[in-house]
Amino acid sequence: MLHHRFIVCNHSNTLSSGSVSWQSPSNIALVKYWGKYDGQIPANASLSFTLTNCFTQTTLDFEPKSSSGFDFKVFLDGERAHSFEPKIEVFFNRIAPYLPFLEDFKFTIRTFNSFPHSSGIASSASGLSALALCLMDLEQQMQPAVTESYFFEKSSFLSRLGSGSAARSPEGPIVVWGEHPEIEDSNNLFGIRYRGPVHEVFSQYRDTVLLVDTGQKEVSSTLGHSLMKDHPFAEQRFKQAQNHLSEMISVLETGDLFRFADLVEREALSLHAMMLTSSPSFILMKPNTLEILERIRNFRSETQIPVCFTLDAGANVHVLYPKAGAETVLGFIKKKLTPFCKNGKFIEDETGEGAKKIS
Ligand code: DP6
Repeated sequence: MLHHRFIVCNHSNTLSSGSVSWQSPSNIALVKYWGKYDGQIPANASLSFTLTNCFTQTTLDFEPKSSSGFDFKVFLDGERAHSFEPKIEVFFNRIAPYLPFLEDFKFTIRTFNSFPHSSGIASSASGLSALALCLMDLEQQMQPAVTESYFFEKSSFLSRLGSGSAARSPEGPIVVWGEHPEIEDSNNLFGIRYRGPVHEVFSQYRDTVLLVDTGQKEVSSTLGHSLMKDHPFAEQRFKQAQNHLSEMISVLETGDLFRFADLVEREALSLHAMMLTSSPSFILMKPNTLEILERIRNFRSETQIPVCFTLDAGANVHVLYPKAGAETVLGFIKKKLTPFCKNGKFIEDETGEGAKKIS
């Protein structure tokens, strides 16, 4: 079994007190993960762009202890964040079989998000991957034989156990998580950097995130994924996602941005179609979301500039467009789309290389 590679029995070095810091970005899925099996196993493969400006920075302070059990405190922006601690407890329980040193230290987790709190951007992908990277850093210090590829594979593997989409954050700029017959080494346990041919038009691809709704998520991902269990269209949807990924392989190679736009939008709308038709059902788009989607499509057909949208499980819109001509698109966004955002808010981002250690 692949996951046995990630079980470590003993470490060659011991550590005294110290601190490590990592920065890990968020990512935006072009082919979505929606539906999973026990053990954070995705029902279909997904593919994402790793972002640059939306990230979490986490510092992990550690000191040895002799008592048993986990001992950690979480701080967000310098303030104790008690509400995060149950999620971290669940995460630690899931990853403990792979990081036997977890009970040997008392941890202080200090975390900071580059994007505003309650901006409607999920921080679980960047947050849990940043923590997983800090923990892997400790493992590497105790086990210097850990190679760079093992380091990133296991970081993604651990991130996945916290939140599926987090598995796609440590590396960039394009990541696949989940088994797909046409992508070598793709697997359900960790994300891999997409190594197929990618047209240069995709380098530093822009993602402007329009904040239509900035409240709490209406549907938690736990509930969302569980809605796919008895969903009448589940099987068809999982097949469709695999087919969309096959189509994406050829689009990435040819750089045909109109095919890209068509594919990415169909995929996003399919995700929402699942929510619209699940039981219970959810309408997560707001009237302003629809207005924005329509305006993006009209702009594309009128100008022949290949700008398109994608959505996550919420009302916010990610506007995707190439670097060439980005100023024109940004002008359109500012003038015609931001009036539909909450307080006119938006975040400018672009594809990036993944996580980095902060010294
Ligand atoms: C709609 O990764 O948040 O953003 O594994 O339960 O933490 P959990 O789910 P999560 O689901 C993300 C769903 C999505 C699509 C995607 O990012 O692929």
